[in-house]
Amino acid sequence: MNNSVQVSATIPDWSREMPERGEWQPGRELMRSLRGYQRARTHGWFSSLFISRLWVLAHRFWSAVAGTDIPINTEIGGGLAMPHPNGIVIHADAKIGPNCLLFQQVTLGGNEHGAPTLIGHVDVGAGAKILGKVTIGAHAKIGANSVVLTDIPEGATAVGIPAKIILPKGDQKREKSEG
Ligand SMILES: CC(C)(COP(=O)(O)OP(=O)(O)OC[C@H]1O[C@@H](n2cnc3c(N)ncnc32)[C@H](O)[C@@H]1OP(=O)(O)O)[C@@H](O)C(=O)NCCC(=O)NCCS
Repeated sequence: MNNSVQVSATIPDWSREMPERGEWQPGRELMRSLRGYQRARTHGWFSSLFISRLWVLAHRFWSAVAGTDIPINTEIGGGLAMPHPNGIVIHADAKIGPNCLLFQQVTLGGNEHGAPTLIGHVDVGAGAKILGKVTIGAHAKIGANSVVLTDIPEGATAVGIPAKIILPKGDQKREKSEG
């Protein structure tokens, strides 16, 4: 949740999810298996059927290690960061745009109306739950342990249960000096 560097909401930064050599990074390994599977499935060759089965095994292994439930076919834009992947649960119909960040224990859950969409560069704090067919705008932030039940506009910060939009302290100071 670092504002100092502007992260794109549309152009994936693949370095955010590539495993680094010699590092213990279950979240990145999990993403690698998911990408490998989805890539293999786009080829119609017989060999890619075999390769995709190997990626399924890798995905199951890393899901167990990380304690996550992220279906292997989930639509995820490049650059998804999960620094502490424990307890992350994502509905199979959820859509995640480029360069999003999910902290531990985040749920993107579905209901009878559908599942959440994160447009791009959305940061979701630890333990937050985003439920139903809601859209979280680009560059939005969701506070730790919040429960989001409605759409959140681009660039907004939402906290609480149910989540409400707040002005972060930096913006409050700017508003006072301008007004
Ligand atoms: C939502 C968040 C991004 C806001 O950060 P910020 O822009 O610096 O906002 P501030 O700290 O200035 O807080 C603004 C207001 O929202 C409240 N607030 C902030 N986060 C909150 C949260 N998660 N739940 C409820 N209220 C929260 C603050 O108490 C403050 O209220 P006030 O104006 O009445 O004093 C941040 O608080 C947060 O939750 N980040 C998640 C980080 C995380 O999960 N890290 C895990 C690392 S392992």
